[in-house]
Amino acid sequence: MDWRRLFGNPERAQLTAELRARIQSSFDQAAGDEEHFPSTIDPRIYHVKLIREHLGALAGKRVLDVGCGKGRFARVFHEQEPGAELWGLDISEAMLRRVPEGIRTRAGSMTELPFEDAFFDGAYATESLEHAVEIEKAVSEICRVVKPGGRIAIIDKNAEQWGKLKTPDWERWFTRRELERLLRRDCRKVSSRLISYWEDVEPDGLFVAWLAEK
Ligand SMILES: C[S@@+](CC[C@H](N)C(=O)[O-])C[C@H]1O[C@@H](n2cnc3c(N)ncnc32)[C@H](O)[C@@H]1O
Repeated sequence: MDWRRLFGNPERAQLTAELRARIQSSFDQAAGDEEHFPSTIDPRIYHVKLIREHLGALAGKRVLDVGCGKGRFARVFHEQEPGAELWGLDISEAMLRRVPEGIRTRAGSMTELPFEDAFFDGAYATESLEHAVEIEKAVSEICRVVKPGGRIAIIDKNAEQWGKLKTPDWERWFTRRELERLLRRDCRKVSSRLISYWEDVEPDGLFVAWLAEK
């Protein structure tokens, strides 16, 4: 694995104002594309079940969906546990406008989360960290806003499968080891596993779930 490509190359790894505006505008436009950026997800999909399982009981808990898009995961968790306080953070305001009522939203970048330390009981990011460009910074920010003992789940694509899908030039995928290493800087327990959409289908290696406890 070429570490410089992922984390070490300062030229490519900087979320400059220009690149940030480009990413934001791309996702603002994508918000109208319901086929590729859906606002709902089947709660039986393993990605949803695994995050829910990892976060544990949500009633009375404050949970952040990092790079929430239209909040399809938060929508399910809010429906399942109306007693939880769900927050969605995204760089695209057009995406946030489609987040259902009852979920608190905040516009911003996951590389500079607009929340105080330990504000959340848990946090998760699904297919969004891969767009953060400054990956180390984003991981450290996610860990910062979660309380000690809080849970973190990240689902993204596996760098070993790089090339399998068309990706924008800023997108990065990680190996299991790379992201485990970053999470270990702030978390006591870290693991990862390959997952597929359905629990009873053998993973094809594309999706990885990283699970951590701060
Ligand atoms: C592929 S979508 C996934 C959305 C959602 N997590 C889901 O699974 O439906 C990626 C999302 O990450 C957001 N995003 C990209 N860069 C971001 C950043 N630096 N900070 C916060 N959100 C970001 C995009 O605006 C977009 O909504």
